[in-house]
Amino acid sequence: MRFRILCVGDVVGKPGCRVLSQGLPALKEEHELDCVIANVENAAGGSGLTENLHGKIRRYGVDVMTMGDHVYRRAEIIPVLERSSCILRPANLPPEAPGKTMVVHETKEGQRVAVITLMGRLFMKPAVDCPYRTVDRLLESLDDEIKMIVVEMHAEATSEKISMGWHLDGRVSLVFGTHTHVTTADERVLPRGTGYITDLGMTGPHDGVLGRNKDRVLKSFIAATPTPFSVAEGDLRLHGIVATLDAGTGRCLHIERVAYTLDEAVPGPDADAARDSVIASGEHG
Ligand SMILES: [Fe+2]
Ligand SMILES: [Fe+2]
Repeated sequence: MRFRILCVGDVVGKPGCRVLSQGLPALKEEHELDCVIANVENAAGGSGLTENLHGKIRRYGVDVMTMGDHVYRRAEIIPVLERSSCILRPANLPPEAPGKTMVVHETKEGQRVAVITLMGRLFMKPAVDCPYRTVDRLLESLDDEIKMIVVEMHAEATSEKISMGWHLDGRVSLVFGTHTHVTTADERVLPRGTGYITDLGMTGPHDGVLGRNKDRVLKSFIAATPTPFSVAEGDLRLHGIVATLDAGTGRCLHIERVAYTLDEAVPGPDADAARDSVIASGEHG
């Protein structure tokens, strides 16, 4: 039996939520999706997630939400991370960190997909535990009956993400990277059956720098002046991949990049991620 998963790259601010809400129904219909996973670490004003947005993004049709280095940027999300069964924190944060390290999503048809997210250690902060040992431990603890396993590698360095793909080839269904907000063109099925891409890209405004207002980012680079970044506004696109899995074995049969561009003529939902839209200077990814 075929199982189709859409994985959506980092959703940035109100513009990202708008294109996500419009693009998901279209992509679900086009690709006959069984499951949607999205990185939402930048959904609230460019950094973090609020409880309200967690509810909205669920209603848009996302089954499993992942978070990266901005996971605790909004303290209000901590109780949600603890109680919700559809949101993850990076598994290799310290054991005391709040939130789930693995989620098993069950579809209406009873098919189960395990999702894990990990953070890289190169050019990232804070320091985290070894992602390789962490994922090995989690996979060991997983019920053998669960064949479909998706692992996100939230990392800055392409080398770290590619290495994780090889580390998990044949043991999980899919490894995808996030955090750099720029889609890579290296999607493929690795020799032992794991679908792989180094970065999904970004869901949000592409007329800026990684989703931030370009004038402010340029000023920070050119004048070396601390400048609060705000979320950019134009050229809204959803970026990600659709993978087709064999539900019986968990093997990836096919992986392809997908993109959806906002139709400006369609009014946006009442997204409220604009509040607190100014984030701290110097924060990307
Ligand atoms: Fe990130
Ligand atoms: Fe991000």
